[in-house]
Amino acid sequence: MPHNRASARPVITPAFHHTTFLTTRLDAMVEWYGLVAGLTPTYYGEEAAWLTNDAANHRIAFLSPPGIKTPEDKGHTAGLHHTAFEYADFDQWLDNYVRLRGHEIVPFLTLDHGMTMSIYYQDPDGNGVEIQVDTFGDWSRSKEWMWASLEFAENPIGAHFDPDKLVEARESGLSFQEIHARARAGEYVPAIIPDIFLPEVY
Ligand SMILES: [Fe+2]
Repeated sequence: MPHNRASARPVITPAFHHTTFLTTRLDAMVEWYGLVAGLTPTYYGEEAAWLTNDAANHRIAFLSPPGIKTPEDKGHTAGLHHTAFEYADFDQWLDNYVRLRGHEIVPFLTLDHGMTMSIYYQDPDGNGVEIQVDTFGDWSRSKEWMWASLEFAENPIGAHFDPDKLVEARESGLSFQEIHARARAGEYVPAIIPDIFLPEVY
């Protein structure tokens, strides 16, 4: 009987849903993700919690059974570097930086990747958490730029910026796109350029 040999394709793709961490600091992690990205627990037990900040039942989960070991040299160990959250709006993104600065939560890395401007924090276990804003405001355009542009291929990490300089630039009246262009041109370079590895927290 004839059959289409391509019938297994295309893959009907599942949507990405959540990430789960082992932790020894359950309460600190729940509190931190609530403060940084507004996640609230859907279920919060003695040894586990499931948190979300949108319509999904959970986006980040923590398992904290007895016997979890802390990592050695996490920043240079293969595994997860960061999870990421995205604002659709530049002002909301920068306002969140200012709000967290008020709580003395400051980033270890800040980069304009071209298709996103990104602020990287560390949670209490040292996992990276990126808070980004899409510079195109349009996923199809930012994906196209990342795929096709020579600019990304030549420098996929991007331009470092000092987020306090972005706050000043906005206060001076510059628009998102003007600030993005100037960040890409290296106008807001921080005094110390950090490396991309997670700093050791243990
Ligand atoms: Fe990322």
